[in-house]
Amino acid sequence: MQCSWKAVILLALASIAIQYTAIRTFTSKPFQLCPVPVPQNCSLGTQDTDASFERGCDEYAYFTFNASRKTHILVLATTRSGSSFVGQLLNQHSDIFYLFEPLYHVQTALIPRLSHSRNAADRRVMLGASRDLLRSLYGCDLHFLESYIKPPPTDHTTDKLFRRGASRALCSQPVCDAFGPREANVEEGDCVKKCATLNMTLAAESCRDMRHIAIKIVRVPEIGDLRALVEDPRLNLKVIQLVRDPRGILASRIETFRDSYRLWRIWRATGRKPYNLDLTQLTVVCEDFLSSVSTGLSHPYWLKGKYMLVRYEDLARNPLQKTKDIYDYLGLSMDKNVVDWIQANTRGSNELSAKHKYGTVRDSAANAESWRLKLSFDMVDYTQTVCQRVLHTLGYKSVKSAEELKNISLSLVADKVFVPFL
Ligand SMILES: *[C@@H]1O[C@H](CO)[C@@H](O)[C@H](O)[C@H]1NC(C)=O
Ligand SMILES: *[C@@H]1O[C@H](CO)[C@@H](O)[C@H](O)[C@H]1NC(C)=O
Ligand SMILES: *[C@@H]1O[C@H](CO)[C@@H](O)[C@H](O)[C@H]1NC(C)=O
Ligand SMILES: *[C@@H]1O[C@H](CO)[C@@H](O)[C@H](O)[C@H]1NC(C)=O
Repeated sequence: MQCSWKAVILLALASIAIQYTAIRTFTSKPFQLCPVPVPQNCSLGTQDTDASFERGCDEYAYFTFNASRKTHILVLATTRSGSSFVGQLLNQHSDIFYLFEPLYHVQTALIPRLSHSRNAADRRVMLGASRDLLRSLYGCDLHFLESYIKPPPTDHTTDKLFRRGASRALCSQPVCDAFGPREANVEEGDCVKKCATLNMTLAAESCRDMRHIAIKIVRVPEIGDLRALVEDPRLNLKVIQLVRDPRGILASRIETFRDSYRLWRIWRATGRKPYNLDLTQLTVVCEDFLSSVSTGLSHPYWLKGKYMLVRYEDLARNPLQKTKDIYDYLGLSMDKNVVDWIQANTRGSNELSAKHKYGTVRDSAANAESWRLKLSFDMVDYTQTVCQRVLHTLGYKSVKSAEELKNISLSLVADKVFVPFL
């Protein structure tokens, strides 16, 4: 009897200690832009308080009460890896506020000259700014993003937000009144045309009203660069790392980025590799994938419960099941909007996909390996040499001849299951 009595007191003391530690963590490390989270200052919010300070206080209160209930989702991808598709799988969910590559604005503001700078100093600046911005965005502080938008928004409104039309929340009420509340699948172009300029204050309100936030980025090289965010307990961040066969990425970029990949097209047309070809356009993808995936698959403690590797090809082959796996990992249920969207968008014709260069309407399964008809064997052979290790790690098979390459009935995607690290 006495023994259990002591145990109760001990338990009570322990729980007080835990709560105290939790509160201390909250108060001693205030969130972005709220350096002095003193409640009195917030209640003094009159005209003379500087707007950014007021905002900081709102955000602090917001995070204190609501952060733990929100899931913050980050899709870590690279260009032409199927990230628009994955983004849509999240964007369509009625409880998710989705943003399409906000880091575009960081890059154009900070290092406009170099699209894929490997300069260490540029890279550090870009990464630091990117992490700060992501942190603010997960707190729905969209005003912080304004400082990177060119020309600078006036009155907190802008029509220059990159790919605004790709975000359902930014094309529907209360942010935009052009479409009815039940109007599903607003075309990106229609949204941009019909919605008035974007009121960032309204956008931030919409963000706060949503249960979860998902952001897709293609400008952070690897998962290790995000460690500070992943480890931040207030963020409750869940990373989905999207990968795709580098040969497929290359073929898709050659079609899409016609200027910067011009020399690759010359190689394909002439059968001769131009001497001044920028090989980093290929090697960077493979190096970043390799280091990121090696980190992720080695299961470091800081990624526990926060990392899922997804191969685009698996999603394309079995979109419903794979999307369900993703939602299971996120701890959310896949709603009807998502299912409807998958059914409407994974059987589209190829003509449609040609029209929508950045779109997601496509016959996903057929397209995932269609790169094999678009690259010459020596380009593929070269890629296989440069990217050998990452191809092997991710389960993509190499081909030894042009016949093998063009024989589509023989898939190059090995069955390999990557379960989330729980
Ligand atoms: C917050 O309020 C306290 C006293 O109420 C004051 O000493 C302090 O300077 C204020 N901080 C800011 C950032 O205004
Ligand atoms: C927390 O979220 C709910 C809705 O999810 C919202 O009504 C409430 O205002 C939020 N609390 C704070 C402090 O922002
Ligand atoms: C933006 O929306 C906010 C909140 O509804 C409103 O107060 C503000 O006047 C709007 N700004 C403009 C320029 O319409
Ligand atoms: C393509 O691969 C399949 C499966 O291995 C094989 O049966 C078929 O003969 C191949 N076709 C050609 C044209 O090589």
